[in-house]
Amino acid sequence: MRFSNKFVIVTGAAGGIGSAIVRRFLSEGANVCAVDNRTDALNQLVVDLSSPDALLAIEADVSSEESCYSLSAKVEQTWGTVDILVNNAGKFPATPFENISYAEWREVCAINLDGPFLVTRAILPSLKQSKAGRIINTSSGSIFAGTPDQCHYVTAKAGVIGFTRSLANVLGEYNITVNAITPGLTDTPPILALFPASILDQQAQARAIKRRETAADLVGTVLFLASDDAAFITGQTINVDGGNNFV
Ligand SMILES: NC(=O)c1ccc[n+]([C@@H]2O[C@H](COP(=O)([O-])OP(=O)(O)OC[C@H]3O[C@@H](n4cnc5c(N)ncnc54)[C@H](O)[C@@H]3O)[C@@H](O)[C@H]2O)c1
Repeated sequence: MRFSNKFVIVTGAAGGIGSAIVRRFLSEGANVCAVDNRTDALNQLVVDLSSPDALLAIEADVSSEESCYSLSAKVEQTWGTVDILVNNAGKFPATPFENISYAEWREVCAINLDGPFLVTRAILPSLKQSKAGRIINTSSGSIFAGTPDQCHYVTAKAGVIGFTRSLANVLGEYNITVNAITPGLTDTPPILALFPASILDQQAQARAIKRRETAADLVGTVLFLASDDAAFITGQTINVDGGNNFV
């Protein structure tokens, strides 16, 4: 199998997109560390997946430096090496700009932008042990649209692109690639709670491929970027939105 003997960390693993990525990596032979800060949801994921030996579930807060170092210590102790890191944890509240408090701004940036930095820095020593390290960051198609009620989120996710490019240059000498994906509006629990079906259907009509996006539409690109086939692709952003934005 494509990812046999590979060790993969996925953050935001209990969420809609993260859990789909975890499932696919497991089905392709990887050992997967599922990371999330929601204990119940993480426990439910373990139950849903029937607790395979290849699954390690660790509760951690990606916006906390201490929590990220504790995560890396546990992973190092259990696995030693990490081959693939998927920085996928995120939070995307919709708040009109003038109502965004500084606390909310900081929280959204802490999870979506500081998170990839803190997790990557903590995991890097284990990632350097890999012969073909991979980092995949989940940005967002909202950076193209400039979604008005998500100014903090759009700013943080645009920062993830800069982080991806600079880090690609830093880590090339270790044979570690760093890439990002920009999902379009994807049917996951928080999106279904945030937007009425009419808005999601309207979005679907704005695409070249006129249907709603699901988590399953994203996993193939993530696994491709994590695979040997993508060994010479780094610093790039792949937009996966059914042809909503052409970049
Ligand atoms: N669904 C979409 O339309 C969409 C579009 C573009 C980008 N994205 C991005 O895709 C990623 C996954 O989103 P999703 O739609 O699956 O949402 P989701 O809420 O279902 O999943 C996100 C997961 O991240 C976890 N998380 C949040 N804060 C955390 C923290 N501090 N530490 C650890 N885990 C934390 C949550 O508990 C949740 O399980 C996010 O980065 C999101 O910004 C989503």
